[in-house]
Amino acid sequence: MGVGIEVSELNAWYGSNHTLQNINLRIPANHATALIGPSGCGKSTFVRCLNRMHETNPVGRVTGSVLIGQLDIYTQASPVEIRRRVGMVFQRPNPFPTMSIYDNVASGLRLNGYRNRVVLDEVVQRSLEQAALWEEVKDDLKKKSGASLSGGQQQRLCIARALAVDPEVMLMDEPASALDPVSTAKIEDLIFQLKSQYTIVIVTHNMQQAARVAENTGFFLNGRLVEFDATHKIFTNPRDKRTEDYITGRFG
Ligand SMILES: Nc1ncnc2c1ncn2[C@@H]1O[C@H](COP(=O)(O)OP(=O)(O)OP(=O)(O)O)[C@@H](O)[C@H]1O
Ligand SMILES: [Mg+2]
Repeated sequence: MGVGIEVSELNAWYGSNHTLQNINLRIPANHATALIGPSGCGKSTFVRCLNRMHETNPVGRVTGSVLIGQLDIYTQASPVEIRRRVGMVFQRPNPFPTMSIYDNVASGLRLNGYRNRVVLDEVVQRSLEQAALWEEVKDDLKKKSGASLSGGQQQRLCIARALAVDPEVMLMDEPASALDPVSTAKIEDLIFQLKSQYTIVIVTHNMQQAARVAENTGFFLNGRLVEFDATHKIFTNPRDKRTEDYITGRFG
């Protein structure tokens, strides 16, 4: 089952650039939460703070706390452990290009020490089914490489790869922005299926997409979380004038 995320007093920097300022936010378990806001407002930086990726940047720095369930990810676990529990999918699909489809999906498990063929076969199939890709690739699992798939298939392969290690949280940073409408619809359907089991955070510039997939939405502006509320509230009756200006297209 997914677990909730509780972010308190989160600040992040790139060198002297104070990119995220005092973010406080509770993301409910087993729901999808959308993050919106103009380019450069800090959405990607924020999601990268939820799996300790921000600190892999040589000038990246984070303060504050992030609880995933009961676990304080900055003080109670290693980055490796956190990245198993918190899967991430990026805007550009990034499968391992020369690895087979099978090896792409199995890579995280192997990294965690799994070698049993039967277990690997099972998990690869289950993950590809969850990612709605199994039917399209089941005959080519070991014949075709990650790079030989279409963009939409590659993105679903990356989702399968992330699901294979059985995470509790899935972070998706504009997962469909490089995809055609059919592939986008598949990813959105997938988010619907997945949220019964996982906690999903999706960054999107597509407000219709946020409205379709997410129960809650947060609006970021200039490194701050301006407003967080039920999606329908954000889009129909926001509390903050800046949210209203953004969603009605007055800036951004
Ligand atoms: N690797 C980096 N090094 C230095 N500064 C960065 C880096 N990545 C992002 N920034 C800065 O941090 C701020 C927030 O960027 P971020 O990528 O989080 O925004 P975003 O909301 O995801 O934007 P977009 O919608 O364009 O993806 C911007 O001012 C950006 O210039
Ligand atoms: Mg971004």
